Amino acid sequence: MTDPALASLLAVDPAAPVPDAVHALAAPENRHLLDYVREDPFGAHVFPGDIEGYDPERFLDDLDTQLSTTAPIHLWAYIPTCSYRCRFCQYPVVIVKGPQETVDRRAAQWVDWNIREARLWLRRLPHLATAPVGEFNVFGGTPSLLPAGQIRRLLDFYRENFAFGPGTTVRFEGDPTTFTPEKLELLAELGCGKLSSGVQSFDDHVLRLSGREHTAAACTDFIRRAKATGFERVSVDLMYGLLDQTLDSVRRDLETVLEHEPTAVVCTKLHLRDFADTRTGVSGVRPAAWQLPEYRARLASRGHRWPTLGEQYQMREILTTGLREAGWTEHPTMYFARPGAGPEKWKSLMADQERQRPEVAIGLGGSSSCHRSEAMTDVDWRRYGDAVRAGRIPLDSATGFTPRAQETRAVTMALSTLRPLREDVHRRRFPGSSLFAPGRREGFDSLRRRGLVETDEAAGTVTLTPVGETLVEAIINTELTARPDT
Ligand SMILES: C[S@@+](CC[C@H](N)C(=O)[O-])C[C@H]1O[C@@H](n2cnc3c(N)ncnc32)[C@H](O)[C@@H]1O
Ligand code: SF4
Repeated sequence: MTDPALASLLAVDPAAPVPDAVHALAAPENRHLLDYVREDPFGAHVFPGDIEGYDPERFLDDLDTQLSTTAPIHLWAYIPTCSYRCRFCQYPVVIVKGPQETVDRRAAQWVDWNIREARLWLRRLPHLATAPVGEFNVFGGTPSLLPAGQIRRLLDFYRENFAFGPGTTVRFEGDPTTFTPEKLELLAELGCGKLSSGVQSFDDHVLRLSGREHTAAACTDFIRRAKATGFERVSVDLMYGLLDQTLDSVRRDLETVLEHEPTAVVCTKLHLRDFADTRTGVSGVRPAAWQLPEYRARLASRGHRWPTLGEQYQMREILTTGLREAGWTEHPTMYFARPGAGPEKWKSLMADQERQRPEVAIGLGGSSSCHRSEAMTDVDWRRYGDAVRAGRIPLDSATGFTPRAQETRAVTMALSTLRPLREDVHRRRFPGSSLFAPGRREGFDSLRRRGLVETDEAAGTVTLTPVGETLVEAIINTELTARPDT
């Protein structure tokens, strides 16, 4: 009987090299990794704990305790508005379209709710207002859809009510068409130094099938305009594994990136599994169109083609090899930066082994964390709005970390950065413990035997091999996770 996962993995484009990751995934001892990547969720956004049903109020206490001692923090606001829904996207988004007046009114509502919610957090957590903010992000959805006045109101509110300083980075997310020249000027004036935008592909056919309502030319225009306005960092998101995407199309994406030189690129494999299944990301109440198997099959029956798993790894290889040859660095997984641009700061604050600072997320579908626990905000906009109006922080669920799981979280987060794990840093954070403690040592030994990590106990390091880097999300979510089911 043919094994569909293996068949899809081995169906590579014969004109391109077979990536080492394909060989590794085909090995019977890595079957669990193949099962994971066949249809994976985002694997390294939320690191869930092993105590389920944790009281969100306890999470807030844990967070406040850590806020009083570790800084700087990652603070973010989530604005869920989008003017269209992409067929691959399962994020919590709220579609806002129609006459400008309607869009403006609904956008203002989301800014109102966000500010009201932020005030509730400030009231509940005595140390939040004074915790130095390392990076403040406005994520979405598409926050660049907000009218200029609402962008100003939101950024002014956070700057006035949280501990922004000269070292605070402000970053704003959007899509290429709503970052108009006027909004770019406004964001620069308001002290925003970094922008990120979804692009997904520079191929108009692939964009159209994905449900994107912009062209590739709009993406390159965005990069040019943002650079000309003087933003320090301009980052774009690319995806591989999209409907009708080919290796040649991805090669052109790489060439376009190298020609237009944004500061950073996020390269993500198409994720189809519900993030809520594994609690490793926040998904909205409605699945993405492409998550529905019958919808996917219908597209295939109409002559469209889903890249195979093997081709997806060939696509990743095209992007990573090309970017590395041009001197770009991947840190953390999926986040590539141009030479000299440094890692993605918010991710580095959150995940680097020597940092792992608290993360506070305000808005529908936010996820917040500290050493002892993590929590997610409600993704149902009606319940969310009711809670905020009633004066309740709209946290929906939380998990806690036993002491052992706190160590596991520290290790898995650090592995996701693709930097070597260091024993000295681990011991400082967990006195009396070791990276090579019983239980963990066997795990690393097994990964080493399979060519996924290199360990050097004398030097006190554990380093992912290049194949280990490609498969890091699968490794941390199947072999090293703190979740109770493993
Ligand atoms: C939440 S979006 C926000 C960006 C902005 N709304 C846009 O699309 O231009 C952030 C990024 O997540 C990525 N993304 C969303 N759904 C995905 C999926 N199912 N698989 C992989 N990446 C996905 C896309 O690259 C997207 O640009
Ligand atoms: S990818 Fe971006 S624009 Fe598309 S639905 Fe998701 S958040 Fe909205």
